[in-house]
Amino acid sequence: MRHFHYRAGRLWADEVPLDQIAARFGTPAYVYSEMAIHERYTAFSHALGPETLLCYAVKANSNLHVLASLARWGAGFDIVSGGELARVLRAGGDPQRTVFSGVGKSREEIRAALDAGIFCLNVESEAELEQVDAIASGLGCRAPVALRVNPDVDPGTHSYIATGLRESKFGIPLVHAERLYLEAARWPAVDFRGIACHIGSQLTDLAPIAEAARKVRGLYERLAGAGVPLSHLDLGGGVGIRYHEEQAPTPAAYAAVLHDALAGLPVRPVVELGRSVVGNAGVLLTRVEYLKDNDGKKFCIVDAAMNDLLRPSLYGAWHDILPVQEESPAETGTLDVVGPICESGDFFARNRPLAVRAGDLLAILSTGAYGFAMASQYNSRPRPPEILVRGSEARLVRRRENLADLLTAEENPD
Ligand code: LLP
Repeated sequence: MRHFHYRAGRLWADEVPLDQIAARFGTPAYVYSEMAIHERYTAFSHALGPETLLCYAVKANSNLHVLASLARWGAGFDIVSGGELARVLRAGGDPQRTVFSGVGKSREEIRAALDAGIFCLNVESEAELEQVDAIASGLGCRAPVALRVNPDVDPGTHSYIATGLRESKFGIPLVHAERLYLEAARWPAVDFRGIACHIGSQLTDLAPIAEAARKVRGLYERLAGAGVPLSHLDLGGGVGIRYHEEQAPTPAAYAAVLHDALAGLPVRPVVELGRSVVGNAGVLLTRVEYLKDNDGKKFCIVDAAMNDLLRPSLYGAWHDILPVQEESPAETGTLDVVGPICESGDFFARNRPLAVRAGDLLAILSTGAYGFAMASQYNSRPRPPEILVRGSEARLVRRRENLADLLTAEENPD
């Protein structure tokens, strides 16, 4: 997180003090460092090499300016909905460098992806493959397809974000996939291009990715032997970042695992990285509203809430929290940092040592991925703005929602 650093007692995002951003745009607010995103994107793309198609997983942070920057730097995209496709196209992303994942693509989404000329549809069931075949036939084209396989590998991560185990809803078991490749290679509108797999998110150990890659390689070799030639292998995303005390894999270590697993194969590697590109490039800026002591249990009530950042509530996730003014005259206490929402699950930290007073600004770190992207209007709270820092310039890239935004899609009850 060196793009968020103290200088002369204040926390800065690159060349902009965060208190200045709070004064200009209010709180709560998401602040991203474009330099931090660029640094991570280029570190991964250099380590992986030009032959690898690096698709940024849009779901991690789908702000148009973030996508546009990544598109400019040459990224491809991994999308999971028609909405994400629309965002990629609006941001100037290249559909020919875009893969479409997800277990439940609708007819409209499949059609839109084929119309846009997408690089590959990652298909997750036989039923979906039949649907794709029918739609592509209707459009008079052949659909570029990879089957997403489920390699039955334990990624060793939170169960809600583990996707490569047999009991998860994702992918097709390897043996079924093999049979389906052989059968459907003859279908008129299915053009098999590759194999896809994604075993989970926030992986701090690369061994499960290596194991999954070996299984995908095995399938590729069996299919090649059976006369189904494929040109790319998509190994998904999932590289973890440091939130607290984790050791996050380096881009070089990740690239080495991939290169090892695919060594000697005449295929193009594809990856779908989200969190590892943007996760540590963002903070959620929030202001302390009140301090409260319930018989010795202390709470720090801030103006952000679980609707703005869901990760602690949903996964029990840890996020570091830093005061924007480094030194506080307040005494350090052990506090729960909580939001104003009417649920006890609305918290950002529990029993955290912090020195704060009402009115202080706090930065909740590592919120560039799955932060704003998972925000909602729960409790009828307008969603916060997003600010992109580019060097010494702070630019509002999504304005704060207002009360009119909350009501805009609803019919007036007269
Ligand atoms: N590809 C597919 C098919 C995925 O499902 C995902 C994430 C990715 C790529 C990107 O994974 P990443 O590189 O970001 O780990 N909301 C959760 C994370 C959900 C991840 C869902 N799939 C969180 O806040 O931890």
